[in-house]
Amino acid sequence: MPDEFFKLLTELQRTLDEGFAHLPPNPAPSLDKPAAKILQKVATRLQDNYPYAHPLYAGQMLKPPHPIARAAYALAMSINPNNHALDGGRASSAMEIEAVAALAKMFSLPRHLGHLSSGGTFANLEALWVAGQLGHTDDGTPMAIAASDQAHYTHSRISGVLGLPFISIPSDQHGRMDLKVLEALLQTGIIATVVVTLGTTAIGSVDPLDKIVALQKKYKFRIHVDAAYGGYFTLAQNLSPETRAAFDAIPHADSIVIDPHKHGLQPYGCGCILFRDPAVGRLYKHDSPYTYFSSKDLHLGEISLECSRAGASAVALWATQQLLPYTPRGAFAKGLESGRTAALKLHQRLSKSPHFLVPTFPPQLDILFWAVRAPTPEASSALAQQIFDEAAKRDLHLALARLPVRFFPQNSWQNSPKTDPQSTVTCLRSVLMKPEHLLWLDHLSQRLDAAAVATLGSIPR
Ligand SMILES: Cc1ncc(COP(=O)(O)O)c(C=O)c1O
Repeated sequence: MPDEFFKLLTELQRTLDEGFAHLPPNPAPSLDKPAAKILQKVATRLQDNYPYAHPLYAGQMLKPPHPIARAAYALAMSINPNNHALDGGRASSAMEIEAVAALAKMFSLPRHLGHLSSGGTFANLEALWVAGQLGHTDDGTPMAIAASDQAHYTHSRISGVLGLPFISIPSDQHGRMDLKVLEALLQTGIIATVVVTLGTTAIGSVDPLDKIVALQKKYKFRIHVDAAYGGYFTLAQNLSPETRAAFDAIPHADSIVIDPHKHGLQPYGCGCILFRDPAVGRLYKHDSPYTYFSSKDLHLGEISLECSRAGASAVALWATQQLLPYTPRGAFAKGLESGRTAALKLHQRLSKSPHFLVPTFPPQLDILFWAVRAPTPEASSALAQQIFDEAAKRDLHLALARLPVRFFPQNSWQNSPKTDPQSTVTCLRSVLMKPEHLLWLDHLSQRLDAAAVATLGSIPR
């Protein structure tokens, strides 16, 4: 971080402290020599990390927080507010309500109830907890939650925790929920809630929300949208028409999860749950004899399952939204568009590579994957692991994912033409989340090619 960051933070801290200057002094413990020595060790130990903030890190879903978020978080931490109740975080609770309203507005929700959470998993847990209370037969037997086989793995775990039956729906050739299978299941009447993923974790596929909403004309079920990863892409102007149609249907969903700590430039943990019908707030009703005394206004703990939550998260998100509002064609939206353009371009380049195989479809968002050309999926998987390691030696950090072979053209594997379409192959995978990735594509490609040549150079193709 440049020196100006810390200079500004010192000034801001002074302003904040002025608000409490009338109190008798109570100095905080100082960072003496032993503390400084420990912190030196901390700094050294933290070097044992991938360079997540650098564009050559193009592996998992990791995006550096914006400096304004970092500064706002650090400033708020000197108060360390707790957004469970207004007793613990008055200003930060007000900021949370505004920040959550900005997310609801981005999705064009006419009304909403929502709050921040520690992350996507907990936000999804709340959505399915509400779904479970509303989705049961007349005799109280819980009905099922359904999600595609590409949905985040936590949905089946969360359903287990909540004691709800869970059904995995196969995905189609493009990794989207198979609507024929979904409809057949809806006909049986056992499904209460369909989890629709807008931006799957492995490949960024987008379930056809618009078509699933249309099924509500024939069948009664709730829709929960897991847009933990992809939600912000609703602002992007360069989605395919099919992806756009899915995002435009978000206001019809009963609940939506979006993670500002993924694409929203926030530090961990900052997730968000939004409900379209504020009346679900009644389901949270609980008694807490030791909180909620300071105000008759809504305490966020009255509408959330978690108790203590970092108010600093809300402050950081609020500040970031002031600087980079969620407007189509604004700077924040353009950052997302860059990542998508980068993913499309890299997919194009890889389709011409002698070393690699691309899937039959281009990326829907900014996540792409590709396999290594080889006689069998097993050989391809082993080579992907080697190229992953060779790339890391060249400071290019990718990810790996085991994915169905049916995502690739038939006859991709000369020596096993009858490969079971349900079988999997380990692929290289890249999440191009940083706007700068677009400018770094040449560097990424060169290092990837060098890693491929180092791995495959001597192997007859
Ligand atoms: C689509 C989706 N849903 C949920 C989650 C879980 O979110 P978190 O890791 O914030 O708990 C993820 C994480 O990658 C995700 O991609």
